[in-house]
Amino acid sequence: MGTILLATEKPFAAEAVEKIRTVVTGGGHQLALLENYTEKQQLLNAVADADALIVRSDIVDADVINAGNHLKIVVRAGAGYDNLDLKSASANNVVCMNTPGQNANAVAECAFGMMLFMARKQFSGSSGTELRGKNLGIVGYGNIGRYMAQIGRGFGMDVYAYKRNMDRLAMEIDGVTPASSFEDVFEHCQYISLHLPSTAETKGVINYHLLRLMPKGAMLVNTARVDVVNEDDLLKLMEERSDIQYVSDFIPKQESVFKEKFAKRIFYPAKKMGAQTEEANVNAGIAAAKQILDFLDKGIDTFRVN
Ligand code: 3PG
Repeated sequence: MGTILLATEKPFAAEAVEKIRTVVTGGGHQLALLENYTEKQQLLNAVADADALIVRSDIVDADVINAGNHLKIVVRAGAGYDNLDLKSASANNVVCMNTPGQNANAVAECAFGMMLFMARKQFSGSSGTELRGKNLGIVGYGNIGRYMAQIGRGFGMDVYAYKRNMDRLAMEIDGVTPASSFEDVFEHCQYISLHLPSTAETKGVINYHLLRLMPKGAMLVNTARVDVVNEDDLLKLMEERSDIQYVSDFIPKQESVFKEKFAKRIFYPAKKMGAQTEEANVNAGIAAAKQILDFLDKGIDTFRVN
């Protein structure tokens, strides 16, 4: 019997935790729970006895990996795994996985919720604008991008998307116009939604050169990662153009500057909220637990990322 630690600084819905427990115990293992922790030391203590670890955006750095004396696998219950130190994991023979697609719909719905909220002037009583007839530009066309396209089309938007090495035919079948470049998206879309992973390559890739191309009244929607946008460039553009809005499902790095200067043109929640639905928690949590069981019992390592 192994111990599977579910460590979530931002907890899953209770229903998801119970379903994860059922999968884990049904597979002959036990679930250890560390929720709402505030100190890294709590995670270091908890991981010492764990054979497997499930996390969300929790930081799994070299210290955590080294503290896991019996640790064999870490699964990031979600898409982005920039919070895992893959090098340390590999050096310690710890397998890392993610659960791609499991929370994608939640993130797409969150993006649209924020878009509507801002298009309607935060439901303040003033006249807003509609999404119908506007162009939606999707930067990165993976699981979330596809849900964005479906919802956007439902709203009557014209959907454009760009992805490196894109499958144009697949996009066209989805009713999406393949864009020729990032520039093409930024120049032609009033709503631009980012769905890029955080990598060395994408750090700051949304820069002034692109941002300045946005049409009048455009909104940048970031449910990807804080560091894909060059915030200095965004602040510069928002200073120059009073028509530009920015929404994200997490706190910007320069929060106080955004708040002080552009309070009416920005929106972000107090915690990263894109994947914070019962359904996404259940889907990602169960997928993570099953992937761990498959790995521990049968050596199956689909979705391995290191
Ligand atoms: C992801 O990468 O899956 C999303 O950003 C969700 O992150 P969270 O699990 O920390 O909410």
